[in-house]
Amino acid sequence: MHMLRLSLSKGPVAHALEVGCAGGAFTEKLAPYCQRLTVMDVMPQALARTRKRLNYPPNVNWIVADVQHFSSAERFELIVVAEVFYYLADIAEVRDAIRKLACVLAPDGQLIFGSARDANCRRWGHIAGAETVLKMLNERFTEIERVECVGQSSNEDCLLARFQNAVHFSHQSDFPC
Ligand SMILES: C[S@@+](CC[C@H](N)C(=O)[O-])C[C@H]1O[C@@H](n2cnc3c(N)ncnc32)[C@H](O)[C@@H]1O
Repeated sequence: MHMLRLSLSKGPVAHALEVGCAGGAFTEKLAPYCQRLTVMDVMPQALARTRKRLNYPPNVNWIVADVQHFSSAERFELIVVAEVFYYLADIAEVRDAIRKLACVLAPDGQLIFGSARDANCRRWGHIAGAETVLKMLNERFTEIERVECVGQSSNEDCLLARFQNAVHFSHQSDFPC
């Protein structure tokens, strides 16, 4: 619910990118508000399952890709990346993925990030959770809003944040396209 509100904070979207759709629960919510939605996932099965479950929506296209290596000639007004970065192998890969997404975000675009928190991610053996990645995102984007979600158990706690593209970011050399 928070994720959709953050995603639509500027109203309906011309072209959005969702990274990592899994079963497509969020894809289903977001697609009706997008003129075009590109859904990218490293697992072809996730895309195929979601595509079928959503009954082949005409405004959605599907790309098998690893976020670390993703590139596109298109620019997206909205990028949503939730519960994906902690699958990457190390911090360098997270940095690569952020760089790739920064390169395809439209100048006036927004990026919505969501993740389980650091403490849980570390307990589960992942490299980094929300707090660590938020710091990295703040080096490249401007954070507009953050939401702290408290789940029924602490395992479900997560942080969501909305960023806008910073035209004059301070560490450009760290994040070339
Ligand atoms: C936990 S699910 C998150 C689904 C959805 N974004 C959500 O918040 O409910 C993670 C998804 O990210 C995908 N994924 C994992 N690593 C990825 C990568 N390197 N590039 C693109 N997608 C990736 C997985 O295949 C899976 O579909």
